[in-house]
Amino acid sequence: MAFRREPLDSNLNIDLDGADSSQPVVEFRDTSYTVTGNQILDKLNLKVHSGEILVLLGRSGSGKTTALKMVNALLSPTSGQVLVKGRPTSAWDPIRLRRSIGYVIQEVGLFPHFTVKQNVSLVPTLERWPAERIHSRTQELLRQVSLDPGQYESRYPRQLSGGQRQRVGVARALAADPALLLFDEPFGALDPVTRLELQTQFLELRRAFGKTSVFVTHDVREALRLGTRIGLLHRGKLEVLATPSEFVKSTHPEALAFLACLAEPLMHQSN
Ligand SMILES: Nc1ncnc2c1ncn2[C@@H]1O[C@H](COP(=O)(O)OP(=O)(O)OP(=O)(O)O)[C@@H](O)[C@H]1O
Ligand SMILES: [Mg+2]
Repeated sequence: MAFRREPLDSNLNIDLDGADSSQPVVEFRDTSYTVTGNQILDKLNLKVHSGEILVLLGRSGSGKTTALKMVNALLSPTSGQVLVKGRPTSAWDPIRLRRSIGYVIQEVGLFPHFTVKQNVSLVPTLERWPAERIHSRTQELLRQVSLDPGQYESRYPRQLSGGQRQRVGVARALAADPALLLFDEPFGALDPVTRLELQTQFLELRRAFGKTSVFVTHDVREALRLGTRIGLLHRGKLEVLATPSEFVKSTHPEALAFLACLAEPLMHQSN
């Protein structure tokens, strides 16, 4: 299905069509974050290029969410910088920046008193798209995430399963066709079958739209499946940055700890 580009603002949108693809969409430059004496991110250096799915992998507490929130300026570095399309996040109008970046988070995030349609059309509505365009866009997106608009658009989030809510979250993040998408463990709370389905759908959507994404997970299988590159965070430091095929050969102790999860036997020997 053809995917229309809907620029948000001729001056400030971060659509990279036609831009020099060697310029990173996101760049962490010596980015550190300290709170109450705790070093949560330690001199992160990382470039995310156009069209990549950069997966940030790490155990709980390693700093993944903190790093992601720096991209859409929900947090600011205590030293160093994060640049989006070459411009420090501190130099962006934070509202414009956030409307230009799709953000999908685990479970929460949908407005409970908004219907599915209202949730999906949030940014286009804020951007004052004409009603007819909002309507057709919402229908198109719901179909793309395998939710029949007739059946689901008038429901409230509480009337959906967790997997359906996540689909609505993905549709909402795509609604205004942002050049950059951020995913924070979006499939973590789902049963494994639905998770696999949504991962496959994510790859299909990505193939169709070629969006640049930063995707946070603690699941090494998910990282290997979805990432074009994997950045392994450990105690706030980027320890490994590799393609999936390089990552599985890594000898870094933290990478080995994650890779050991893949080698777990399915059943106990005596079974
Ligand atoms: N406002 C804060 N004040 C103090 N410590 C914080 C604050 N926010 C985060 N932290 C700490 O920073 C560390 C990194 O948190 P972060 O949420 O980035 O981890 P994460 O890698 O996303 O973990 P998870 O996989 O559990 O979501 C944690 O040890 C957390 O307790
Ligand atoms: Mg987190």
